[in-house]
Amino acid sequence: MTYSRIVGTGSYLPARVMTNDEFAARLDTSDAWIRERTGIVQRHIAEPAQGSSDLALEASRRALQAAGVAAGELDLILVATSTPDYIFPSTACILQAKLGVKGCAAFDLQAVCSGFVYAVATADSFIRNNLYKKVLVVGAEVFSRILDWNDRGTCVLFGDGAGAVVLAAGERPGIHASVLHADGSQVDLLSVPGNVSRGAITGSPYLQMNGQGVFKFAVRVLGEVAEETMAAAGMTIADIDWLIPHQANVRILDATARRIGLPREKLVVTVDHHGNTSAASVPLALDEFVRAGKIRAGHRVLMQGVGGGFTWGANLVTM
Ligand code: ACO
Repeated sequence: MTYSRIVGTGSYLPARVMTNDEFAARLDTSDAWIRERTGIVQRHIAEPAQGSSDLALEASRRALQAAGVAAGELDLILVATSTPDYIFPSTACILQAKLGVKGCAAFDLQAVCSGFVYAVATADSFIRNNLYKKVLVVGAEVFSRILDWNDRGTCVLFGDGAGAVVLAAGERPGIHASVLHADGSQVDLLSVPGNVSRGAITGSPYLQMNGQGVFKFAVRVLGEVAEETMAAAGMTIADIDWLIPHQANVRILDATARRIGLPREKLVVTVDHHGNTSAASVPLALDEFVRAGKIRAGHRVLMQGVGGGFTWGANLVTM
């Protein structure tokens, strides 16, 4: 039996830090409001010249180094992003070129804030079915490019960044179970409903959101998918060392932990200093806790995504 394991993690945050006070200086908002309603204190913002592939490149190099894997050994590069460099080709192909390799498969996966969890499940399937042995899975976003910076209801929530893992074939899990879901009837809860057509943008190029609708939906499905994934793996909450939910809002994270009976100290929170980085949020949080020596070999980690679509899902992993 072949399984997949995470053998290295990496992440990258752009240097520029943006505090809540910078919003308060030009919008009708305050540091206190943003902290209280979201838990967010600061976020990182990419330089104009940095695209998702640039952030992905730095995160990937770090993950490959941690794994002791050369880029030339990869069988597949999978990038989860909703802010690709181009309409096409994929950010994964651009990343492949920046890594200086060619030949391996490369494609993007679009599931918004669930993208990384979807991509890990996809990579795991390729490995379990003996198609590939080494896969680079990246979540990379520059959400700062799709925000209306005058809309206080959305622009304070997001940040830029990238996280990556190397998955490799092994004889023991690794990834115990993944569960993925979508409900396309909820398209309007969270979207960027624009398009490029005949040389012009049609619709809106900015993120639109029903905040309270997203909040309620996220708390419900994160609770449900946690239970479903633990059941699929034959585990209970007592087996989980760390929960890494998609980092959208501290109140969503706390409500999820409470709902599934997880002690607060096992909840990974990075949204306070990263903001919501969409597909990058889970691998960024994972790498931060691995590098801090908190998440260690043998720990069981439940990673969860939820986002536009609506999409949601989880992977239960032994590190
Ligand atoms: N500063 C000050 N006031 C604000 C701000 C702001 N940045 N944003 C909104 N308000 C105002 C609203 O205009 C409203 O004013 P009004 O009463 O005069 O109309 C008031 O605050 C209350 O607005 P609500 O939307 O009811 O505030 P709520 O407590 O629901 O908080 C928030 C809004 C933070 C967006 C919350 O709904 C939320 O976190 N939802 C989840 C959204 C989320 O996480 N999205 C991320 C993308 S989805 C994902 O990743 C899964």
